[in-house]
Amino acid sequence: MPIGLVPFPCCRIYCGANPYKVGCRNCLWLIQESPKALVKQFFENTAVSYEKIVNLTTFGRDSYWKREVIKKIPKCSSILDLACGTGILTFKIAEKFPDTKITGVDITESFLNVARKKLKPNHKISFLLDDAEKIDLTTKFDCITSSYIPKYCIPNILIEKCLNHLNSGGKIIFHDFTYPQNTVVKGLWSLYFVILKIFGRLIPNWKDVFENLPKLVKLSNWVDDYGNIMKRNGLQVEIQNLTLRSSAILTGTKKI
Ligand SMILES: C[S@@+](CC[C@H](N)C(=O)[O-])C[C@H]1O[C@@H](n2cnc3c(N)ncnc32)[C@H](O)[C@@H]1O
Repeated sequence: MPIGLVPFPCCRIYCGANPYKVGCRNCLWLIQESPKALVKQFFENTAVSYEKIVNLTTFGRDSYWKREVIKKIPKCSSILDLACGTGILTFKIAEKFPDTKITGVDITESFLNVARKKLKPNHKISFLLDDAEKIDLTTKFDCITSSYIPKYCIPNILIEKCLNHLNSGGKIIFHDFTYPQNTVVKGLWSLYFVILKIFGRLIPNWKDVFENLPKLVKLSNWVDDYGNIMKRNGLQVEIQNLTLRSSAILTGTKKI
C-alpha cells in the first residue's frame, strides 16, 4: 500500500476503483499524510491558465489575500517565496520592495516558466526549481512567504526547512485556504464548490482541481498544525482569518 494512504472499507463501493490509487478522484480523502501526491495532478497542465482561473474562482479575493500577506512583510534585504508558482505573489512583493533580493522556489517547471517570462532586467528575483520540503540553500533569508503551500506539505518537515533558511528575527508568513467554521458559511462554501465542479467539466485541465480541492481543504488543519510546530520552536505566532474564515494567514516570528 502506498505510503500516506489508509484503507477505507467503503472505498471499493464508493469509487469502484483501486482503493489505494494515489489521487483517485473519489478516494482522495483517504490521503492522510501525503496530499503532495496531488501536486502533480493539480499543476501539471494548469500553469498557462492559472492566473486567470485563480482570480476568477476567488472573485478577486486572491489579490486581496496577497495584499494582506504583503502588509505583514517587514522591510528586509532577502525574501524566499516558497511554491511561488507563476510568481503572482513574488512580483507583487518585488513591486513593494524593489531593492530586496527575492528567491522564488517551485516544484513545477511549467509554473516557473510562466514566472520567468515576466522577469524584467530591474527585477532582483531568481526562480529555482526545487521541492520546498527538500531545499538546501546556502543562504538564509529575512522573510519566508508562501501562498497556498501549507496544505500540500508535511508541517514539521516544511517548518524545519524554513527555520534552517531563516535569519534570527525573521518571519515566516503562510497563507492558504481554510474550511469555514460557521454552519451557514460552510453551506455556502460547499455549494460554491458544487458549482465549481460543474463548471470544471468545461475546462478539462481544471476538472481534478475543482473536484479535489474542497476535500483537501476540509481535511487540512494547517493553521493549527503549523502554528503549534512554530510555537514549539519558540516562534511568536499570529493568525489572521480572512473572508468569512475561508482563508487565513499564519505568521511566525523567530526570536533574535
Ligand atoms: C496554487 S499554486 C500557488 C502559486 C503561488 N504561490 C500563488 O499564490 O499564486 C500552488 C503551487 O505550489 C507548488 N508546490 C506544491 N508543493 C510544493 C513543494 N513541496 N515545493 C515547491 N512547490 C510546491 C505547485 O507547483 C504550485 O505551483
